[in-house]
Amino acid sequence: MTRLSTSANARRVSQTPEMRATAVSRASITSPRAWPFDGPRTVLAPMEGITHPDFRHVMTRLGGLGLVCTEFVRITASPMGKRQVARTVVRSEGAPLSVQVMGNDADRMAEAAELVEEAGASVVDINLGCPMPRIVRKGVGAAMLKDLALLERVLLQMRRHTRGLLSAKIRAGFDDSSQVVETAKLIQDCGVDYIAVHPRRRCDFYKGVADWPIIRLLKEQLQIPVIGNGDVWYATDALRMRRETGCDAVMIGRPALRNPWIFAQIAALESDEPPIHPTGLQLFQFIEALIRHYETVYEGRKTGLVGPLKEMLTWHARAIPNGRPRISALLRLETVDSILAGAYELLAPIPADGLDLDAQGSLGLEQCGSAVLQEAPALSQSA
Ligand SMILES: Cc1cc2nc3c(=O)[nH]c(=O)nc-3n(C[C@H](O)[C@H](O)[C@H](O)COP(=O)(O)O)c2cc1C
Repeated sequence: MTRLSTSANARRVSQTPEMRATAVSRASITSPRAWPFDGPRTVLAPMEGITHPDFRHVMTRLGGLGLVCTEFVRITASPMGKRQVARTVVRSEGAPLSVQVMGNDADRMAEAAELVEEAGASVVDINLGCPMPRIVRKGVGAAMLKDLALLERVLLQMRRHTRGLLSAKIRAGFDDSSQVVETAKLIQDCGVDYIAVHPRRRCDFYKGVADWPIIRLLKEQLQIPVIGNGDVWYATDALRMRRETGCDAVMIGRPALRNPWIFAQIAALESDEPPIHPTGLQLFQFIEALIRHYETVYEGRKTGLVGPLKEMLTWHARAIPNGRPRISALLRLETVDSILAGAYELLAPIPADGLDLDAQGSLGLEQCGSAVLQEAPALSQSA
């Protein structure tokens, strides 16, 4: 990993927290910053209940990943305990780790940032995008996009206590996206090192298609690196997102659950090698290996794995034509072994071209984003 070597960062690293507390205030950045990591410009998105250390480990081993993110850690009135820090800050070999925190108490957030950084996080990330009612009711996640004064206080305090990389993950807005540039500039001026944007508003939840022109707008307006996120369903779309928006890296969440090879496919495309086009048997073998890996971690408590297994199958079904009804019988089974047996029967006979898992998305089962609006329908099928 290469740390940023701007004078602002060099200054931060050599100062004590007390010195930084007086030195840090909103300051405009005048020269563009470089993407801070070597390696692929790809990021596994934070996903609650999914991107725990075991999933991150399996995904990193498939290759092509430049940065992995934890799910959010909710920071409330009490400090993070040692066990919670240890459970969260688990690095996977081969990729730096971004640890995401969510909260609105400036002191507690700064303290959490310090703790996870000391425990070995490569980046401390703040969640400014979670749309869930139980989260926004508490004034955190996407709700913080509505209160820029509070956001500024929290970010400045986190900046004072974080020596290394600090990032923010935003949505385009809460009810509308008219303030997205102002919000992103405030985040930049608070000393955040890079920003990830999922260009939907909170009120959209996951409806419609991600608004990639917003990524391009932020890339044009900001000096810090911008990660583009949202509806990169096929490997070719990651390259297209970078081309159309100029973003510095591409973050992928749900599409990686549907197609775990997407990062490896992007890496292959970038090095002019043929990307893997998995068969149904390979997909089954991935699912089985993931579950067997979880079994060793959970010490054989197979019943606890029925839920995660069904969740994974539901994502994979999106890559099978008419997939949802075809897996519905599996979702009624109650043991890991019976579900795996059913999954084998369903998946093993499917040839590669019967699955929408190739790098181009030849079957076009998903709708991808576009920053070139008039070309969106054609691109989503074939680009
Ligand atoms: C099940 C699930 C859990 C998520 N949890 C988080 C989270 O903990 N923190 C966060 O910033 N975003 C979270 N997200 C949002 C994703 O990181 C990502 O921004 C969103 O899914 C859009 O990207 P995609 O189209 O690549 O999936 C979650 C998304 C899903 C589907």
